[in-house]
Amino acid sequence: MLSTLSPSLIHFFLLVVGAAILTDPATATDHIVGANKGWNPGINYTHWANNQTFYVGDFISFRYKKFEYNVFEVNKTGYDNCTIEGASGNWSNGKDFVLLKKPGRYYFICGTGGCSNGMKVSIVVHSLPSPPSASISATKHSESTKHANSAAAEVTAGRLSLMVVCRALLVGLVSSIVMG
Ligand SMILES: *[C@@H]1O[C@H](CO)[C@@H](O)[C@H](O)[C@H]1NC(C)=O
Ligand SMILES: *[C@@H]1O[C@H](CO)[C@@H](O)[C@H](O)[C@H]1NC(C)=O
Ligand SMILES: *[C@@H]1O[C@H](CO)[C@@H](O)[C@H](O)[C@H]1NC(C)=O
Ligand SMILES: *[C@@H]1O[C@H](CO)[C@@H](O)[C@H](O)[C@H]1NC(C)=O
Ligand SMILES: *[C@@H]1O[C@H](CO)[C@@H](O)[C@H](O)[C@H]1NC(C)=O
Repeated sequence: MLSTLSPSLIHFFLLVVGAAILTDPATATDHIVGANKGWNPGINYTHWANNQTFYVGDFISFRYKKFEYNVFEVNKTGYDNCTIEGASGNWSNGKDFVLLKKPGRYYFICGTGGCSNGMKVSIVVHSLPSPPSASISATKHSESTKHANSAAAEVTAGRLSLMVVCRALLVGLVSSIVMG
């Protein structure tokens, strides 16, 4: 009985676990600006940004000499003109992690003069890619930022029910092994 049932059971079990892992937010990426060159003058960060794909939930992080440089989040005017008036955020720890919460375009510049020497970076953050079709329908609405909170609750509920299904499958597998 085990030999005829278990391959499809195991296959389904792996599918369910795979879907749960793929929708896990723990897979967020930390995009280190400038990679091993960090946040410094004389680097083309457009070039760096073109080689990255940013998703909601990822981090962009800046590594630089504290007190010498810093980071301001500005709008397009601030980016084009190297001005920090009306900046929506600033960081100055020398190792700063910025969570990318929403899709859209972001602009970051250095506020200590480095901007005119290339210390500016603009990125586009994408919505999370749609989960594979094997996944639960509860994640369907996650693209809508308006309903992000209720979608998150639905996803959590979906993952909870996945856990319940996984446990039931495990119990089924173990008991069929024991009985077989
Ligand atoms: C930086 O690189 C981008 C794309 O690689 C290029 O279009 C741009 O002209 C460069 N900027 C400078 C100041 O060299
Ligand atoms: C782009 O990124 C990949 C891996 O992230 C790296 O191997 C490659 O050298 C990068 N290319 C450029 C032009 O920076
Ligand atoms: C940006 O700077 C340019 C000249 O560098 C100036 O003509 C323009 O008015 C500035 N824009 C803003 C919004 O300050
Ligand atoms: C950017 O912010 C500044 C200061 O708040 C404002 O004057 C300017 O119009 C804004 N530019 C854009 C493109 O939103
Ligand atoms: C930097 O951010 C803090 C809040 O985190 C704010 O109080 C301060 O005014 C900002 N500084 C500038 C120069 O925008």
